[in-house]
Amino acid sequence: MNNANSNVSKWSVSSRIFHWISAALLLVTWLMILLYENLDSNVFIGYHKAFGVSLLFWMIARVINRIFTKAPPPLAMPKWQMLVSQLSHFALYAILIAMPMVGLLMAVYGGRPVDIFGTFQIPVFVTPDRSLARFYNNLHTEIIWPMIIGFTVLHIAAALYHQFVKKDNLIARMK
Ligand code: HEM
Ligand code: HEM
Repeated sequence: MNNANSNVSKWSVSSRIFHWISAALLLVTWLMILLYENLDSNVFIGYHKAFGVSLLFWMIARVINRIFTKAPPPLAMPKWQMLVSQLSHFALYAILIAMPMVGLLMAVYGGRPVDIFGTFQIPVFVTPDRSLARFYNNLHTEIIWPMIIGFTVLHIAAALYHQFVKKDNLIARMK
């Protein structure tokens, strides 16, 4: 019916690379927590932290890329959907930056330097404080993590709605 692939307006190559590598880093960071919780091994919490910090740097670069590259014109959709889309994209950026920052603060306030794949260490740059470490731990695991799950599920559900219900080829813009 619609062969829109040929004339779809795509995101820039850099934006597409930033998008899919962020998604992959989020997935791997989460998998490391699952391995850590199920295998009870300290290796995986180390990888969790290193991948999490990598995602932080990746997201900062992604925001800079977003500011300096042009977004494709939005697809036609009702005003409320456009608003929800823009708000949830903004929220995804905000929580994907907040989450690793809070994780890092949890670690350093707990008095633990963070090792990045054996290449360098982020030192304890604050005075360790157990109650602050606990505060950031709660923020990490009980507030921001459920928000990541919620917004990611909403995001993927919206993409599937565009793909299979509206059939407007939205996903092709990011492929
Ligand atoms: C976007 C990046 C990150 C995501 C999505 C993420 C996600 C999570 C999740 C889902 C948990 C388990 C929560 C639970 O117990 O139910 C967790 C725990 C933890 N995270 Fe992260 N994290 C990220 C970044 C970081 C970073 C950068 C650090 C430290 C440098 C870190 C340190 C920790 C620690 C130490 C725990 C264990 C807490 C505990 O056992 O109570 N995380 N994280
Ligand atoms: C199966 C998984 C995914 C699919 C199919 C998908 C699809 C898309 C599509 C089609 C767009 C562009 C929307 C438009 O042109 O208006 C987009 C944008 C975006 N996606 Fe995803 N995505 C997925 C996973 C993720 C994940 C896991 C995250 C992060 C948690 C994420 C974060 C974002 C953000 C922040 C934007 C907005 C980009 C911007 O405005 O700069 N996506 N996604």
